[in-house]
Amino acid sequence: MKKNNVYIETYGCQMNVADSEIVMGILQNCGYGITKSVDEADVVLINTCSIRENAEQRIYGRLGNFKTIKNSNPNLIVGILGCMAERLKKDLIEDKKLVDLVVGPDEYRRLPDLIEVAFQGEKGIGVRLSRTETYDDIIPYRGDGLQAWISVMRGCDKFCTFCVVPFTRGRERSKPLDSVTNEIRKLSERGFKEVTLLGQNVNSYRDGINDFADLLAASAVVDGNMRIRFTTSHPQDLSDKLLYTIAEHPNLCNYIHLPVQSGSNRILELMNRTYTIEQYLKLIDKAKKIIPGVSFSTDIITGFPTETREDHLMTLEIMKQVRYDGAYMFKYSAREGTKAYKMEDDVPDEVKTERLQEIIELQKQISFEINQQLISKEEIVLIEGYSRKSKSFLSGRTDNNKVLIIPFEKTIKEGKYIKAKVTRATHATLFGEFTAFINSLDENLGMTG
Ligand code: 5AD
Ligand code: SF4
Repeated sequence: MKKNNVYIETYGCQMNVADSEIVMGILQNCGYGITKSVDEADVVLINTCSIRENAEQRIYGRLGNFKTIKNSNPNLIVGILGCMAERLKKDLIEDKKLVDLVVGPDEYRRLPDLIEVAFQGEKGIGVRLSRTETYDDIIPYRGDGLQAWISVMRGCDKFCTFCVVPFTRGRERSKPLDSVTNEIRKLSERGFKEVTLLGQNVNSYRDGINDFADLLAASAVVDGNMRIRFTTSHPQDLSDKLLYTIAEHPNLCNYIHLPVQSGSNRILELMNRTYTIEQYLKLIDKAKKIIPGVSFSTDIITGFPTETREDHLMTLEIMKQVRYDGAYMFKYSAREGTKAYKMEDDVPDEVKTERLQEIIELQKQISFEINQQLISKEEIVLIEGYSRKSKSFLSGRTDNNKVLIIPFEKTIKEGKYIKAKVTRATHATLFGEFTAFINSLDENLGMTG
């Protein structure tokens, strides 16, 4: 019998990328083929994001394309997975008549059955959220490569007032530590060199015995030559134990993504972020003391309801104080069902755009200055392959997650760690020269990152 082929397209956060790999793992186990081409597909799945309205609009646009394809191939099954499936549920099937399948983030185990239902001409719907599902026994489908994601916890209990995630992904729950370390071991055996531990709120990881610091420590010792990263951290759960653990292991990257969202205490309170700017800054100072050379990135929302010019200036101020290596910067988007949705979205779009522009400009300036200070310093780089622009250059990443480009050299292979001296830098990229090979990451304990 001919195998049915599945094509999957992924939008949104890294968690969704990891979830798509879980979905492919489940379907492959049930005899489905995985294809990278829509033309070869019997089933098209779109793993979606609801975090901002424009993310959803984009996906609606894409669904329109699939509808055209379906007109010429009526047997094609089109399914929506992820946050939009959870948020819009039956609307997608009943109102828009666009799709055959709607499956939320906690129901992927039922996908093979639900696809069967759809093949028989019914609609396949699975949108229940779970308090326990972690997919800990599922082996995700991954191509060969150097870098992998592992989702170690799911859901979010923080209920920031702007955010739809607690509603689309449900309550927090964590994968057992052993399941994570076993996955890292298998990746190491396959030649992977970098793993990013994922969770909407990764540092509130708790598997009943271990906390996130325990998980990081256990992950670090699986293979000392594998870099371990993690994202996203909430300031409330960034414990001292966690900071000391990062400092202790050379392969735990000295890089923390720590969303601040706003620089104004009044806005932070309205957002239910549970910290003040003073507490946030103290935390940053402490992390800098405990982890020499640590760097930070952040998320910022501009134009939250009632945000004034003064509040906005406070956001610029916190950016100048922390001096983030990088930032993800967004205009506030009102999401139905959240607490903030009940507040008037009273900052006009032109004002949001203007403020966002100022935030982006400032961040570019800061990133540029930080990178200039790296000139003539040495960095440890994991070589990932040719640079995107030219085969005359190789590209890699530093411990602090910056892209560093060096001239091509035959002897420098993908997946190797090298030392490179930075010679030039823009706000986004470092350029340098090869100085030495590195056999093991802990040889270089004394190096600055
Ligand atoms: N509008 C704009 N940005 C948002 N984010 C989450 N919800 C919204 C929203 N309603 C941003 C936050 C979060 C990141 C993942 O997305 O900054 O940290
Ligand atoms: Fe959303 Fe806040 Fe949870 Fe992050 S911590 S997923 S912003 S509710």
